[in-house]
Amino acid sequence: MTDPATGADASRLWHRLSGTSVLLDGFHALKHAVRFGAEVLVAVAVDRKAALALAEELAPDVRDALDALLTEVTQAEYAALVPRPHPTAVAALAVRPSREANLARLARAGRTAPVVVLDDPRHLGNAGAVIRLAAGFGATGVVTTGTLDPWHPTVVRGGAGLHFATAVERLDVAELPPGPLFALDPEGDDIRGVELPDDAVLAFGSERSGLSAGLRARADRLVALPMRPQVSSYNLATSVAMTLYHWSLTGGAAPGQDRP
Ligand SMILES: C[S@@+](CC[C@H](N)C(=O)[O-])C[C@H]1O[C@@H](n2cnc3c(N)ncnc32)[C@H](O)[C@@H]1O
Repeated sequence: MTDPATGADASRLWHRLSGTSVLLDGFHALKHAVRFGAEVLVAVAVDRKAALALAEELAPDVRDALDALLTEVTQAEYAALVPRPHPTAVAALAVRPSREANLARLARAGRTAPVVVLDDPRHLGNAGAVIRLAAGFGATGVVTTGTLDPWHPTVVRGGAGLHFATAVERLDVAELPPGPLFALDPEGDDIRGVELPDDAVLAFGSERSGLSAGLRARADRLVALPMRPQVSSYNLATSVAMTLYHWSLTGGAAPGQDRP
């Protein structure tokens, strides 16, 4: 694809592609997506020089890539492209990774990092936060069941562009990747006595009603996070954070080590 020469060209290209691509909202989302190999179709900034200065300061590894990608647009052109302006006034559209490739990653034998399953999550912000966590811990992927679209623009915004650092897909419970399934539930065995293997599938229930019957039936073990009796449950994303941290202590790859 030829790079747009002017803001007007970039806007035209944007309108042509926006229905079928992933919106990267803000400098940090674009930075992460580029860093983790996203195919960026068009990228705009209201102040190109300022965006590149930010890259020089915070992300020198992607500065040249951003220099090649960014087209300067006016404030009015930018405002017409995004649902609400981001403080960095940077935005881009990227190709959504192929479902086939993600499913192959999720189902691969001998995975070296867990798959996180959110069973019928309801809150778009929680899903984004979980994808960010999964990326940070080098998890193989995040699977959602139910109706929430894990590639919804609000989830991508919450994930800070890190959907490209892990495999994100929606599946039915019957289609979950193979591997020992540990379902997180306050009634389970205390996680402090449980070693989570690298190929674990770690499942978390919905904010409203916890784990579904189908997920419970598929679980090999119910595992609980330490919590005093008077408290009914933790927030979904914080539960994922504690569980991945526990995995990182007992079975996780060493910090800095490349993981899939
Ligand atoms: C907000 S909670 C769900 C609360 C829901 N009202 C219920 O009835 O279970 C969302 C999910 O976080 C996980 N979770 C929260 N607190 C937990 C705990 N103490 N131990 C294990 N998992 C927990 C579970 O997977 C739970 O289904």
